[in-house]
Amino acid sequence: MSILTEFSLKNHNTFGIDQKATAFVVVDNIAALKNSLQHPDYPEKFILGGGSNLLLTQPLNALCIHINLKGIAVVEETEEEVIVEAQAGENWHAFVCWTLEKGYGGLENLSLIPGNVGTAPIQNIGAYGVELKDVFDSCTALHRTTLTLQEFTKKEAEFGYRSSYFKTKGKDKFVICAVRFRLTKRNHRLATSYGAIKSALGNTPPSPQSIAKAVIAIRQSKLPDPAVLGNSGSFFKNPVLTKDDFNRLQKEYPALPHYPQTDGTIKVPAGWLIDTLGFKGKRQGDAGVHEHQALVLVNHGNAQGKEILALAQEIQAAVNTTFGIALEAEVNIL
Ligand code: EPU
Repeated sequence: MSILTEFSLKNHNTFGIDQKATAFVVVDNIAALKNSLQHPDYPEKFILGGGSNLLLTQPLNALCIHINLKGIAVVEETEEEVIVEAQAGENWHAFVCWTLEKGYGGLENLSLIPGNVGTAPIQNIGAYGVELKDVFDSCTALHRTTLTLQEFTKKEAEFGYRSSYFKTKGKDKFVICAVRFRLTKRNHRLATSYGAIKSALGNTPPSPQSIAKAVIAIRQSKLPDPAVLGNSGSFFKNPVLTKDDFNRLQKEYPALPHYPQTDGTIKVPAGWLIDTLGFKGKRQGDAGVHEHQALVLVNHGNAQGKEILALAQEIQAAVNTTFGIALEAEVNIL
C-alpha cells in the first residue's frame, strides 16, 4: 500500500479543481481498505470514488482513500432476470455498457452518468425517468469504525430523490464496496415517457440498446463532457414545493415547468429558474454556468473551488430573491 503525500486531486474530481490532499492511497481490496481506515498517522479519512459529485474549495486535510475495487459478475439468474454484482471502483458508464452488451435491461436510461458504481447509490443517481433505486437489489458496505461488512437491502438503503441512508443517517459511516442490480433478460421494463427520449428514438423500436443510444445523444447535446469541460452534472437539486407555494408561483410565472409528485408536492426544474434569471452561459473568471444547461456549473480552465462556490451562492441568492426558493446543492462541497 503506497501512500502519496501532498497529492493533487486535479485528476480525481470531474470539476478539475487543483487542491491537494494531505495523503492519498489507492485501495483495490478489502484488506487494504481496512488498513487505510485504521491508519494511525491520519486521523481524518476521506473516501473518494470517481470524484464526480465533489467541489473542493480548500485543501483536503485527510488521508484520501481512493476506492479501486474492481469486478463484475452475475450472481443469480432466472429465465427472466439476472442479478449482477459490480464492485465499487468500476466506472459507472463502462458497467452500464457491459450490461447492455450482455443484453440485460434496466440501466439504459442511466447511460453516460459520470462516476463510479460505489457512489451511485449514495445520491440515488437518476436520469430520464429512471433512478438507481428502480434497479437496485442490495449492496455490501464496510462500517468505517467497526470494519465489519454489512448488507443493505433496498428498504434499508432508504432511497429518496438524490438521497439515501448513506447521505443522511449513515453519512460518513460506511464505504460501499459492491452493489447488486436486478436486471431483466427479457420483457424489459422500458422507460420511454421522457419527451426527449421519444423524439431521439423517432421510429426506432425501443430496446435497452436503442434507449441507451438516445440517452447518450441527449446527454452529449446538453451536458458538458467532464474530460473536456470540468463540471459535476447538476449542481443543485430540483426544488420540491408545496401545492400552495407552487400555485402562488405559477400565477406569476405561467410557463414554469412542473412535475407533480405522488405525495402531492410539486417538483420544479432549478435549471428553468436559473435560466430565467439570465445566468445561462454567464462566466466569472473561469467559473461559469453551462451554455446549454443552466443547472450545470463549469470550470473553464483554472477556476478555484471557491470561485465556483461564489457563483453558486450568487445563483442561490438571486433565485431566493426572485422566486422565494432556497436551492439546495446536490454536489458535495468540501
Ligand atoms: N430548463 C431550462 N433551462 C435550462 C435547463 C433546463 O429552461 O437551462 C428546463 C427544460 O427546458 C426542462 C426542465 O427545465 O423543461 C428540465 O430540464 P432537464 O430535462 O434538462 O432536466 P433537469 O431537471 O435540469 C434532471 C436531473 C439530471 C438528469 C435530467 C434528465 C436533477 C438535479 N437533475 O435535470 O441529472 O440528467 O433531469 O432526467 O434532478 C445530475 O443529477 O447530475 C443530472 C445531470
